[in-house]
Amino acid sequence: MSGPDRNMTQRLIAAAFEARKLSYSPYSHYQVGAALLTADGRIVTGCNIENAAYTPTNCAERTAFFKAVSEGHRRFQAIAVAGSPAGDTLTQYACPCGVCRQVMAEFCDPDDFRIIVAGPEGAHRLMTLRELLPESFGPDNLS
Ligand code: THU
Repeated sequence: MSGPDRNMTQRLIAAAFEARKLSYSPYSHYQVGAALLTADGRIVTGCNIENAAYTPTNCAERTAFFKAVSEGHRRFQAIAVAGSPAGDTLTQYACPCGVCRQVMAEFCDPDDFRIIVAGPEGAHRLMTLRELLPESFGPDNLS
């Protein structure tokens, strides 16, 4: 599979930027938005949600996954992520953290699922889950 087409890629990036505006990040001031594309073509968004006790903080990607799974979705095509220190524009690429990669591995095909990471000046990078999490431990290990 080649991943979402150019139009869908731009829609997902735009949705991730919108979700980023809702970031609750009073401690790090690092704002992240994510837009997850389900197998049936819906877009579920998420933002990072921080906490005064720090460890309960949830990343934008996991917010999107947990929202989607809790609404009945278990198969996914792609996720777009837009993260950067507070500000209207991105100054860097925010690749998903290790915990979020592991959550993706629970539900997503390593070669078909695409991770779109938005970057400065409208650019983006496209990766497979296998590239981000090679040799992963997953549901197959327990079947
Ligand atoms: N964060 C995400 O939301 N996604 C990532 O992939 C990396 C980090 C959030 C967590 C925390 O609120 C802030 O960015 C700084 O780590």
